[in-house]
Amino acid sequence: TQRGDGGNFDELIEADLRIEPRDQMPDDYRQTLIRQIAQHAHSEIIGMQPEGNWITRAPSLRRKAILIAKVQDEAGHGLYLYSAAETLGVDRSELLDKLHSGRQKYSSIFNYPTLTWADVGAIGWLVDGAAIMNQVPLCRCSFGPYARAMIRVCKEESFHQRQGFESLYTMSRGSQRQKAMVQDAANRWWWPALMMFGPPDTGEHAGDGRTAQSMAWGIKRFANDELRQKFVDMTVPQAQKLGIELPDPDLKWNEERGHWDFGAIDWDEFWRVLKGDGPCNEERINHRVQAHEDGAWVREAAVAYHEKQQERQQG
Ligand code: 3HC
Repeated sequence: TQRGDGGNFDELIEADLRIEPRDQMPDDYRQTLIRQIAQHAHSEIIGMQPEGNWITRAPSLRRKAILIAKVQDEAGHGLYLYSAAETLGVDRSELLDKLHSGRQKYSSIFNYPTLTWADVGAIGWLVDGAAIMNQVPLCRCSFGPYARAMIRVCKEESFHQRQGFESLYTMSRGSQRQKAMVQDAANRWWWPALMMFGPPDTGEHAGDGRTAQSMAWGIKRFANDELRQKFVDMTVPQAQKLGIELPDPDLKWNEERGHWDFGAIDWDEFWRVLKGDGPCNEERINHRVQAHEDGAWVREAAVAYHEKQQERQQG
């Protein structure tokens, strides 16, 4: 997809060209993007917490260095995404206020706890694996700044996914206790990872059904269920390689469809977690608000520095 050159919105979308910040765009398109990009940015920075919990307890210097770098990457992804959202005319402080007061969401997945070291590997393998499956198509999103941010994010995300798999693969060839930890982590992260793709697009558990409109606008390129199926198909052989069982008795290869069939997802749990009633929702937000308050001096110092520089230039 190439950049548009300030043409008519419908024509640019029709031609699969990019919409840029100064192009005219319908307000609903702008609001949909602000909502999705903000939610995505919030997910990146809240997503630092479950793994950050393990930095002091990583089992070796090598694993600690990798984990610190990975958590730092997530912060960077948050920053690109807040910048992309700002090109739509919102201010990041406004978006952060909305996150802190529960008026904007972040991904359901980050409301689950990281109980053992294997959870850090499982986040890389399953959570980042699901994130890439969802985000690679966003590199072709119709809104230029979001699409461009996604290219770098996806490259880093693929690296995260591989490090997670490699960490679990090492443990799966270790002691009985290590193997059991890998299995336990997979048991707990599998279903929440499938929920990351969002509610089904049709049927009794469907959400607001934003998919059709977002696909028409070239924001989403695939429906939630399509990406979920691709993720299952990609991940089952990887689980086999790790020598673990995914916690779904209905998981079986369907020759006719050419896909893995899988069991019913507990959508009541998904909606409960979204409404704030997951295992860690309160902890995540409290921690985030505290970090924001503790960082106030950095923001104040940056403003004071900027003002001084301006004074100097004028004087
Ligand atoms: N967690 C929280 N909310 C979710 C969700 C999830 N996993 N899936 C869907 N929702 C919300 C939607 O935001 C929407 O809420 P709203 O209408 O009140 O805003 C509602 O449920 C209905 O869902 P839809 O499928 O109709 O909504 P969307 O069209 O927005 O699709 C999506 C949902 C597929 C998640 C889409 O927003 C998307 O692709 N977002 C970008 C990717 C993203 O945000 N990823 C975050 C997790 S990965 C990550 O952060 C990387 C990690 O390495 C740190």
